[in-house]
Amino acid sequence: METPAHTKRLLKVLAGTACFPPPVWLMRQAGRYLPEYLELRAKAPSFLDFCYTPALSAEATLQPVRRFGFDAAILFSDILVLPYALGQKVHFDPAEGPKLKPIVSEADLSALDEQLDRNRVAPVLETIDRVKQNLPNDVALIGFCGAPWTVACYMVAGKSSPDQAPARLLAYREHDFFSRIIKTVVDASIDYLTWQIDAGVEVVQIFDTWAGVLPASQFDEWCVAPVKAIVAGLKARRRRAIVIGFAKTGGSRLVDFASQTKVDAVGLDTTVDIDWAARTFGQSTVLQGNLDPLALVASGAAMERGVKEILSVFRARPHIFNLGHGILPQTPISHVAKMLDLVRGKGGP
Ligand code: CP3
Repeated sequence: METPAHTKRLLKVLAGTACFPPPVWLMRQAGRYLPEYLELRAKAPSFLDFCYTPALSAEATLQPVRRFGFDAAILFSDILVLPYALGQKVHFDPAEGPKLKPIVSEADLSALDEQLDRNRVAPVLETIDRVKQNLPNDVALIGFCGAPWTVACYMVAGKSSPDQAPARLLAYREHDFFSRIIKTVVDASIDYLTWQIDAGVEVVQIFDTWAGVLPASQFDEWCVAPVKAIVAGLKARRRRAIVIGFAKTGGSRLVDFASQTKVDAVGLDTTVDIDWAARTFGQSTVLQGNLDPLALVASGAAMERGVKEILSVFRARPHIFNLGHGILPQTPISHVAKMLDLVRGKGGP
């Protein structure tokens, strides 16, 4: 029998109940700051091979939970597994990051599968199954995908870019074509998240890492509408699906994002003023975030102040403690342990 949801603090908060201390997990909590990850990573020739080997990716998912006792595990994979599974050439250069064969013409797009083939993501689903068998009863499992805008940024540029000029230019110059790329990712993401839920994840997070580079006039069309379509499509199929939306962008447009997309919880990035967020979002909106990943690198007074402020501002409302973006590879593990002590009230007098 399934463990009742209320034994998992993350699910309790996502159902709208405030918990203190709040449940805590960190974006990119599995990865290079962990010595045990670096050791495990050496067992696969490439990052994609690693993601596609369930024994390795399941172990990487479990490592941070074992070391730190986080309230949630996040599936170890990558947002670029989706374009890869659709047939785009993708590899990860250890020095330069992701490299994809850019989608710049109709021919490039039609070379991809129109629909996601379940067999192409089967190892990811098997990873979920393995993690479920080894996860403590009180720890929730989070699945994820990239938001269509962010995934399209990489599909079009073929690599990382500081301002996502290639995708923004394509969206201006060839609106309908860019829109078809987005639609392909929306449809594939609905299938992908449905299968992740069926395999056992209890919550999914949609990462829109590049939402912040969109001008106001483009935000609704390329960030809000596609995420809204995924949430609606997923909930039409799996009524109880729980979705956290992380649109990495500051300020007032997050309010639109939250109300339009109907995500169950809103991730706050590092730049968001928490007092503003607490005033602006109703008590019924679950918030997640937003300690500066650099405060975790610095530790000391900066981190203590940051943690304390977040805890006190969000104390009486449903809140999930997290960073404002992914944990940085140079983060000392002792700082993570110290942060958890502070969040859980074990930091001394
Ligand atoms: O612990 C977790 O959060 C689960 C694993 C996870 C990874 N990537 C592992 C990874 C998750 C949730 C992601 C999401 C992801 N991937 C995002 C959105 C979140 C964010 O941080 O903004 C984005 C934009 C990507 C794309 C991506 N993957 C880039 C740009 C890079 C290279 C830069 C970098 O951070 O290294 C990756 C590679 C990647 N994904 C690594 C890891 C652990 C490093 C490669 C390695 O360990 O060999």
